[in-house]
Amino acid sequence: MKALSSATQTLKPSSTVAVTARALELKRAGVDVVSMAAGEPDFDTPEHIKDAARAALIAGKTKYTPTLGVPELREAIAEKFKRENSLEYAINQIQVTTGGKQALFNACFALINPGDEVIIPAPFWVTYPEQVRLFGGVPIFVDTRAEDGYQLEVAALAAAVTAKTKMIILCSPSNPSGVVYADSLIEAVMELAEKHDLWVMADEMYEHITYTGKLPVSAAKFNPERVITVNGASKAYSMTGWRIGFVAGPAHVIKAMDAIQGQCTSNANTIAQWATIAALGDSYAYIEMARAAFRERRDAIVTGLNAIGLPTPTPEGAFYVLADTTRIHADETEAAKIILERARVAVVPGTDFRAPGRVRLSYACSLEQIGEAVKRIGALEQT
Ligand SMILES: Cc1ncc(COP(=O)(O)O)c(C=O)c1O
Repeated sequence: MKALSSATQTLKPSSTVAVTARALELKRAGVDVVSMAAGEPDFDTPEHIKDAARAALIAGKTKYTPTLGVPELREAIAEKFKRENSLEYAINQIQVTTGGKQALFNACFALINPGDEVIIPAPFWVTYPEQVRLFGGVPIFVDTRAEDGYQLEVAALAAAVTAKTKMIILCSPSNPSGVVYADSLIEAVMELAEKHDLWVMADEMYEHITYTGKLPVSAAKFNPERVITVNGASKAYSMTGWRIGFVAGPAHVIKAMDAIQGQCTSNANTIAQWATIAALGDSYAYIEMARAAFRERRDAIVTGLNAIGLPTPTPEGAFYVLADTTRIHADETEAAKIILERARVAVVPGTDFRAPGRVRLSYACSLEQIGEAVKRIGALEQT
């Protein structure tokens, strides 16, 4: 039998998925597992968004749309960028995708050639290096430290730039560290990009889940010509299953991404596109409710984990923490196994995020579950 493609030989399956699968297996076997592995808000999608989906179905909006997305949605996205991020995009600069993941994939496909280097601050979301490698790109990691709250140093970023560098990926607020970059840092990164003629992929998927009291500045604000801004409905409106992402950038890049998507998946789900118009309209009551709940849970989990001897920095965004589990086991994969098999709490080892000695816990669950998880982990004997 001839071999699989070389691209798939290096592709790693998502570790989050592996842990979630094992936790499900245990649950099916009757074991009571507290799941802190998932990357999705635990709230239901707000009712006005579901109503818009029902209305779209009844109106027969069940056919193909333009590959870039229905113009009404792209207008709503342009309006969102203007209102929330002070960015001006025409609708031919906006693409609607099947989740934020496809937006990133299309952009990597459009911009990366074999041998191109892509700088990724670590800890990072596991999908970035995998997508870069799929197109023959070389991920270059720039480490940040828990002691600094995972803040990025521009000097470290600058030191990683070579003649082969094509792009920098910024994720703020970050999955998995929860770091939110200061506006001044983003501005400095954009100056670096300008100096070395680099693309910046700004993943702003968690922009509405921040505890800093304001929306983080969009990288594109400093130079929209260099930035591909990725966002979507998944995290902001609790719509992970609807699979709607969106991306904005220079028209020629979006045009290339349109051609790519046209040969892969065509348009994103039509009914979900219409529902997303309602989501982008006025979901601020939901956003505020979710943010307040996440803040309370963040405080509970950070306090709880630190109290049981697992040092955990306080993140300023998203709904994850990275806990130091070296007290449980020096190796984080072993620590995550012990936490799942013995404490019956599902967490993701930091290995694939490049967060050695740490595991990621998602606090998109109830305060009761957080309390129970901390109690169970705290009761583990050191091995
Ligand atoms: C940082 C980040 N970007 C993008 C995505 C993709 O989101 P979607 O579910 O819309 O594909 C995720 C999902 O976990 C994420 O954590």
